[in-house]
Amino acid sequence: MKILVSDSITEGGLAILKDANFDVVQLPHGTPEEKAEACKDVHGWVIRSGTKVTAEMIDNAENLQVIGRAGVGVDNIDIPAATHRGIVVMNTPDVNTISAAEHTVAMMLTLSRNIAIGDSGMKQGEWNRHALVGSELRNKTLGIVGMGKIGREVMTRCRSFGMNILGFDPFMSQDMFNLDEVKIVDLDELTANSDYITVHVPLTDSTRNLFDYARLSSMKSTARIVNVARGGIINEADLAKALADGKIAGAAIDVFTAEPVDTSNPLVNAPNIVLTPHLGASTKEAKEGVSIAICEQVRDYLIHEKLNNALNMP
Ligand code: MLT
Repeated sequence: MKILVSDSITEGGLAILKDANFDVVQLPHGTPEEKAEACKDVHGWVIRSGTKVTAEMIDNAENLQVIGRAGVGVDNIDIPAATHRGIVVMNTPDVNTISAAEHTVAMMLTLSRNIAIGDSGMKQGEWNRHALVGSELRNKTLGIVGMGKIGREVMTRCRSFGMNILGFDPFMSQDMFNLDEVKIVDLDELTANSDYITVHVPLTDSTRNLFDYARLSSMKSTARIVNVARGGIINEADLAKALADGKIAGAAIDVFTAEPVDTSNPLVNAPNIVLTPHLGASTKEAKEGVSIAICEQVRDYLIHEKLNNALNMP
């Protein structure tokens, strides 16, 4: 059987597929057209976030039985089209959690202590220590939108900084949490009362543009917002305008509606913003973890019909 690996997967993951005697076709730098051609005769397809799996590709992939997403987000796969053809879509929901949570905290600290501005200023010969007065996280209120695995790990870390936590999640209620660790509130209350807001929800029709200009304007003018989840949950043009208008104090963004980002993205020239190029899960540990997990899952499905972390099959 043949497996297409169309994004970058570690050697450890590839070895699992090769040891199981699959014919592995690697195309991590292929164009969408090359990937569309290569998927036509494969039985399994392993991707990260760099491959967009469209309905047309799925329709043309006659032998395809499983699409394995090394990572969490599956907004780059047309899942209804896969389900329609009986193709299993699976991901690795647990492995990136700590890396994403740590990057979120790194972004908050970078914002609150002016680390990025201080670094770039020094490299241009400046010594701005009196202009770059930061603020502590201690006693500040953090609003976590999405209290799933990553949101809860962010909560644990931020509680150790002495922060007060507000949480919003349409699928969770206060009785699932201790009131002394997080107060579950509605989104409006979280927005109005947080000093920092971080989003940890998937990108869906109901979360797209969740933070638009109106909602951003209802944050405290001293507040900052972080997105290490998915581009589009915070509207990019609206965020750039809210920063320029002084509606909020800062933002740290790791994910974008179109990646890679070019200079036409309004966030690139927005004030008081820290940008990173989708680094949330870019750690040695997470990359190795998702590569091994997805290759094992795809192998086990193709050889033993064993389903693990399938998103569209019971
Ligand atoms: C994920 O969805 O797992 C992360 O955003 C990393 C990635 O896109 O691969």
